[in-house]
Amino acid sequence: MKRVKIFDTTLRDGEQSPGCSMNLAEKIEMAKQLEKLGVDIIEAGFAIASPMDFKSVQAISAAVEKPIIASLARCTKGDIDAAWNAVKEAKHPRIHVFLATSDIHMEYKLKMTREQVLNRITEMVAYAKAYCDDIEFSAEDASRSDHAFLAQCYTNAVKSGATTLNVPDTVGYSTPEEMGNLISYLREHVENADQVDFSCHCHDDLGLAVANSLSCVRAGCTQVECTVNGIGERAGNASLEEIVMNLKTRRDFYQADTGINTKQIYRSSKLLSNITGVPIAPSKSVVGANAFAHESGIHQHGVISNAQTYEIMNSTDVGIPQNTMVLGKHSGKHALRERLSAMGYDLDDAALEEVFGRFKNLADRKKNITGRDLEALVLHRRNHIAPDACRPVSHVINTGAGLPTTAYIKLARGENTMEDVAIGSGPVDASFKAINRMMGVDAKLDSFSLNAVTDGEDSVGEAVVKISVGDSESYTGTGMSTDIIEASIRAYVNGLNKLVEDMPEEDLNSANITPQTAPIN
Ligand code: KIV
Ligand code: ZN
Repeated sequence: MKRVKIFDTTLRDGEQSPGCSMNLAEKIEMAKQLEKLGVDIIEAGFAIASPMDFKSVQAISAAVEKPIIASLARCTKGDIDAAWNAVKEAKHPRIHVFLATSDIHMEYKLKMTREQVLNRITEMVAYAKAYCDDIEFSAEDASRSDHAFLAQCYTNAVKSGATTLNVPDTVGYSTPEEMGNLISYLREHVENADQVDFSCHCHDDLGLAVANSLSCVRAGCTQVECTVNGIGERAGNASLEEIVMNLKTRRDFYQADTGINTKQIYRSSKLLSNITGVPIAPSKSVVGANAFAHESGIHQHGVISNAQTYEIMNSTDVGIPQNTMVLGKHSGKHALRERLSAMGYDLDDAALEEVFGRFKNLADRKKNITGRDLEALVLHRRNHIAPDACRPVSHVINTGAGLPTTAYIKLARGENTMEDVAIGSGPVDASFKAINRMMGVDAKLDSFSLNAVTDGEDSVGEAVVKISVGDSESYTGTGMSTDIIEASIRAYVNGLNKLVEDMPEEDLNSANITPQTAPIN
């Protein structure tokens, strides 16, 4: 069996895609979950891209121990300096340098000749190597590059000290056969190819990212780059969970293992979806709500007689919680701890105490608390961000036909409380206007969605808002409650807290954000 390394780029290529941005605390939380998942390499960001990117690569380097932490860098000294400064405290640092090698990229983007590109690779890989032993080199748009030239580029990289050669299908143009052939060609034509790891990095523009990656594994790649839920630029990157479960389920065919703890797959997928507010499609392979559901009678009959009639994977292998034990308002902390632990959530005492308080509140409103409800309670625990963040306290909404809707909202920040009333076109609009005023932000609601966490009349609703000010990026807020207005208010306050916390001082000033610090009453 060969061992395939999983290089996770959720926090770099994934986070780069619209609607998927995360704040520092969320990136650290996701990185810790990736460590539990057992990925070999976490690409934590692109350190030169912004001070926030730098800070998050640095923070992730300090927060996780087992995986290698990589930062991306173009082939320039400034990028490489920033990448090294961000990862140098990691237990296992890596610098990932890249340069485009296709004729179209070299002519129109880089405005460099082939010779210049070859020299730049030699120089910059050597420059990075002087900092760090572990160097990955990527030839951007490799799949559309001239093969012989590409082999020369990688040979130069190896001579300068690269230890991993990554072969990206940057624009998702290749077919599985072409990608496999390219890897075989490079393994034959790159000098000292047997001394380095070959890696692939496939995008999903034509829906072939996973198939292309698997073909590369067959052709000898020992590293695959991918993201949780397949998030990433445009149509996304190859999905981690699909690659891993293909290799596991068809081990007989691929003859390859990964170091992934597959029982953490579902949790990683849910956490990411909860952080970014990007839902998982019900039919998504491996982690979608319907991935293990059998509706048709024939299928159900078969599965009851022998699960393998229609199931090629076991949902417990992916860590999907089984709805075996339902809790209710008489359940104690011990039962909650047991149930959470069976679902893979091992909380410390303080966290358990907090979740228990929220569990009791929910149990007052909802008779049966299912595994999905518990999962939502644990995931939404993250929403208590900075200690000086605002918290919703209470609200009264007046709505009806023929009259404008009014919302009275009370918020707290630390010991202080503030209250305001606003008129709006509906309960959500009126509530958000009152909150904007109290938090001193003229935020724009870019999108709003509500989903039921479970079925039934007393289902818990999960609201997701995306908000921005001026031309800032979009911030995601999430909130849950059995009352959908309350869920919406929580989501909005959560999003605004993140926005105010993350935006640099000068942007806050230029957007006229003056967070309310004094109590209104
Ligand atoms: O898609 C791509 O080519 C990349 C490289 C920077 C690895 O993301
Ligand atoms: Zn990419």
